[in-house]
Amino acid sequence: MNSKSRNSGIAGQLRRLPTPVALLIGVLFGLFFSRLLPWSTSTATWRGYNVVAKSRQQSRQPIQLPTVEQRQRIFHLLTTLSPHYTKECSRNTQPLYQKQAMERYAPLIGHKSPSRSSWLGGFGMGGSVEPDYGAGRTIRDLVSSEHKYFFAINLYNSFDVIPDLFATLFRVAAILGYHNVYVSIYENGSTDQTKALLRIFDALTRSVGMRITIRTSTRRRGAFNHRIEYLAEVRNAAFGPLYELREGENEVFDTIVFMNDILPCVDDLLELIWQSRTNNAGITCAADYMYHDEIGSPVFYDNWVARDINGTALENAPFESIFHHAPSNDRFQKHLPIQVQSCWNGIAVLDPEPFYLPPHVKFRMARIAEGECSASECSLICNDYWNAGYGRIMMVPRVKLAYDRRVFDIIHPQRRNLTAIRGYVRMGGLPDDPRTDPQDRSWFGPHDRLFTEEESEPLEFTSGPEHVWCWGWDGAGDLEGPDVDPIWERMSNKSTNADAVIVRHVRSLP
Ligand SMILES: *[C@@H]1O[C@H](CO)[C@@H](O)[C@H](O)[C@H]1NC(C)=O
Ligand SMILES: *[C@@H]1O[C@H](CO)[C@@H](O)[C@H](O)[C@H]1NC(C)=O
Ligand SMILES: *[C@@H]1O[C@H](CO)[C@@H](O)[C@H](O)[C@H]1NC(C)=O
Ligand SMILES: *[C@@H]1O[C@H](CO)[C@@H](O)[C@H](O)[C@H]1NC(C)=O
Repeated sequence: MNSKSRNSGIAGQLRRLPTPVALLIGVLFGLFFSRLLPWSTSTATWRGYNVVAKSRQQSRQPIQLPTVEQRQRIFHLLTTLSPHYTKECSRNTQPLYQKQAMERYAPLIGHKSPSRSSWLGGFGMGGSVEPDYGAGRTIRDLVSSEHKYFFAINLYNSFDVIPDLFATLFRVAAILGYHNVYVSIYENGSTDQTKALLRIFDALTRSVGMRITIRTSTRRRGAFNHRIEYLAEVRNAAFGPLYELREGENEVFDTIVFMNDILPCVDDLLELIWQSRTNNAGITCAADYMYHDEIGSPVFYDNWVARDINGTALENAPFESIFHHAPSNDRFQKHLPIQVQSCWNGIAVLDPEPFYLPPHVKFRMARIAEGECSASECSLICNDYWNAGYGRIMMVPRVKLAYDRRVFDIIHPQRRNLTAIRGYVRMGGLPDDPRTDPQDRSWFGPHDRLFTEEESEPLEFTSGPEHVWCWGWDGAGDLEGPDVDPIWERMSNKSTNADAVIVRHVRSLP
C-alpha cells in the first residue's frame, strides 16, 4: 500500500537559503516571534519535555542548560531548513494568496502574548507559555486557552523523506506553538539508516523545546495472522504517548494529525487543521494522487478506503470521474470540501475524543467472526467514528498529496507569468479580478490558487449511508491488495441516524 518510488540520494541536503515557503512562514512567524522570547528566556523552568527526560532529570549530575542565544540560534536554524522535495510548494506565491493565507491561518497561531507580570518575572508560574509540570499543576491549567496537537507518524525505510518531513514539522509547529505540539513517531524495523537519521532529528527537536517520542520496533508482520491486524498495530503504536501523557501528566490533546511518509506543504497541513477545526470534524483527509501509466496522468489513489456519502467507492481515475455521487462530484470540481463516508488519503486530522472516551475507538482489523467485511483499518476506524457519533468525516480536495517526485511536480506546478503572452498585468489574473488566471482552472493548477468564500463555509453534514461498498482483504493468498469479492455492506443503525453527525466536541477556531 505504501509502495512508493522516490528519487534517491538526497542525503539531507539541508540548504539554508530561505525559500518562499520559509519567507511566507517567516512573515507569519514574525507576528509572534517577539512573543516567543519570554519562552526562550525562561531557562529557570527548563526541563525535559517528556516522561523519559523527566526521570533523567532526577540524576544528581546537573545538566548544563543551553543559553538563550544558543537556543535561539538552533531555533532559527530549524525554522529555516530548506526542504528538498517540498521546496517548490509555494515558490513565487502570489501576494494575494499570501495575504489570504496569513489571515486565514492567523487564528491557528499558538503563542499567546504573555501577561506583563510574567514578562517581568515569575516565568513558569502561570504566565509563561512553556508548560510547567511542577507545583502540582497540570499543563492544562497553565495553558488552558491553547489548542494541543498530537502528530502521529508511521515511518518505514524513510531516510529519503525525513529531512523534508521535519522541515515541514518545524515550520508548522512554529505557527501552532512548539509547546502545543507533540510528535510521536513509530518506526517499524527499517533496514536503511532511518533510525540513525531519526536520532539526529530527535536531538534537534528537543534542543528547541519541542516534545517528541520516537519508538522503533523490530517486530515483523510474520508474527501476525492477518495483515490488517499488523497494520492496525503499527498505527496504534504511534498513539502510545497519547495515552501515557493523559495518564501520567493529565495532558489531553485537542487534535491529532496522522501521517505516513508523505510530504505535505506547510499550508497543506494548516488547511487540513483549519478545515477540521472549522467544521468540528471527526476525521478530515486530503486527496492523494498516483501516476497512472496508461492514462498518462495522475489519478486519485486511495480508493480502497475512500467512500462518498452514498457509500460508493471513489475511482482510480482522472479528476473528472473520481466521484460517482453527483453533488460530491460537483463540489470536487470546484475544489470545495466534501462530506464523505470514509477516507484517509495519506494524512488525516482526527478529533481525539473517541480515543479518550468510551467506546474507545482504535485501529483494528475486522471482526470476521461477526461477519464484518475485511476492510482496511482506516475504513474501519471511519465506521467506528460513525458508530461513536463522530461521523463528521470530510475530504479537502484543495490539499493534493503525492507519493513521488513526478506526481508532486505535476500537482504543484509553478505559477507562470502570463503577462508577456496574454497581456495580463500581473501574475494571478486580471487586475480587477485576480481569479481570472486560466492556470487556476486546470485541476493540477498552481498551489497558490486563491481561496473562495465557499471554501470557508462550514459543511452541512448528513447522516451516513445504509450500505457501503466493501472490498475485503483477508490476506489468505499472496495478493498485495484486496482479495475478496466486493459487497455492499450494511452499516449499523447508529451511523444512519442524524445523531451520528451532531457536534459533540467543539474544536472550532476563536
Ligand atoms: C512496516 O510497516 C509498513 C506499513 O506501514 C510495512 O509496509 C512494512 O513491511 C513494515 N515493516 C516490517 C519490517 O514489517
Ligand atoms: C448509491 O448506493 C447504492 C447502494 O446503497 C447503489 O446501488 C447506487 O448505485 C449508489 N449510487 C451512486 C450514484 O453511486
Ligand atoms: C511578468 O512579466 C512582465 C513582462 O515580462 C514583467 O514586466 C513583470 O514584472 C512580471 N511579473 C512578475 C510578478 O514577475
Ligand atoms: C435497524 O433498522 C432496521 C430498519 O430501520 C430494522 O429493521 C432493524 O431491526 C434495526 N436493527 C437494529 C439492530 O436495531
